[in-house]
Amino acid sequence: MKAIILSGGKGTRLRPLTYTGAKQLVPVANKPILWYGIESIVAAGITDIGIIISPETGGEVKAKTGDGSQFGAKITYILQDAPLGLAHAVKVAQPFLGDAPFVMYLGDNLVESQLDLFLDKFNSRHLDALTLLCEVENPTAFGVAQVDSTGKVLQLIEKPQNPPSNLALVGVYLFSPAIHNAISNIQPSARGELEITDAIQYLINWQKNVESFRLSGWWLDTGKKDDLLAANQIILDSCLDLSIEGSIDEPSKVSGRVHIGVGTKIINSTIRGPVTIGKNCHIENCFIGPYSSIADDTSLIEADIEHSVVLKGAKIVDIKQRIVDSLIGERAQLKPASQRPKALRFMIGDDSQIELT
Ligand code: G1P
Repeated sequence: MKAIILSGGKGTRLRPLTYTGAKQLVPVANKPILWYGIESIVAAGITDIGIIISPETGGEVKAKTGDGSQFGAKITYILQDAPLGLAHAVKVAQPFLGDAPFVMYLGDNLVESQLDLFLDKFNSRHLDALTLLCEVENPTAFGVAQVDSTGKVLQLIEKPQNPPSNLALVGVYLFSPAIHNAISNIQPSARGELEITDAIQYLINWQKNVESFRLSGWWLDTGKKDDLLAANQIILDSCLDLSIEGSIDEPSKVSGRVHIGVGTKIINSTIRGPVTIGKNCHIENCFIGPYSSIADDTSLIEADIEHSVVLKGAKIVDIKQRIVDSLIGERAQLKPASQRPKALRFMIGDDSQIELT
């Protein structure tokens, strides 16, 4: 059994962050989204992993993730030179996959790990495809499945206008090598992509064994800011390493589930978990409230923040109002106003969103 993780794409819905970086590397609880996928694949016993990368962000994905040794896996990087669809990515990965059955995992999806149960079903029922399904409120935004009472998949449609059910295809799939022939027999969709949904439908049309697995845990497609904040909240609630490695001075108060990284100084501040703070940060005269993830090398001085994600190297100094529900990019700077500001002065990148509430 092998695995491929798709880590290309342009990440248009997370702009402006994704102008400068891969969406799969945006951190949730200070860890790149992509790494959660790698860890859950390795936990299911699969260590031969191909990561599909794009020319735009592949270098960064490779530099950050490495050869896999930190995960106990062997990672092969596979270049998809244009974003021509999920099935196209499988085509590009075929030399790596050979005749092996494989897991395909979309690198911007976060799924509560049940991969071993999923694998058991695929193997014991000798399937050609197993799709993971989850009930959603907005099925038109996803691939949608129609299944019978036993979980056999009858029909799949990509982003249907009139969805036959509210069961969305989660971005985790299991395939036998039969998928390669299916992919070579489909045509690009209206959006110009080779859709994996169409390839699975081809298997169904040719009476191959295609079944589904209903996800009972959570699933987050982290493509947008609010999804990312929701993912951050779930991860901080469920899998936070509670070590305190930095220093906390006497007047500071730290309560609840909190992680503080090496070299970080907490000075005269209140940290109320769940909160994770990375390495080498300077936190002084701050309130850091629940569901905040503060990345490495950040400086927060005289700031009050909660339910927010602050990326590496950002600086927030002397902001009088509480910062909530925010996503602050790498090296971004929020600076002080001497008194109550008479004017606001901005340098804001394309697609940024500022709400003064
Ligand atoms: C892709 C798939 C879709 C699936 C979704 C899950 O959509 O085509 O069937 O439901 O991932 O995240 P995309 O993110 O490419 O729009």
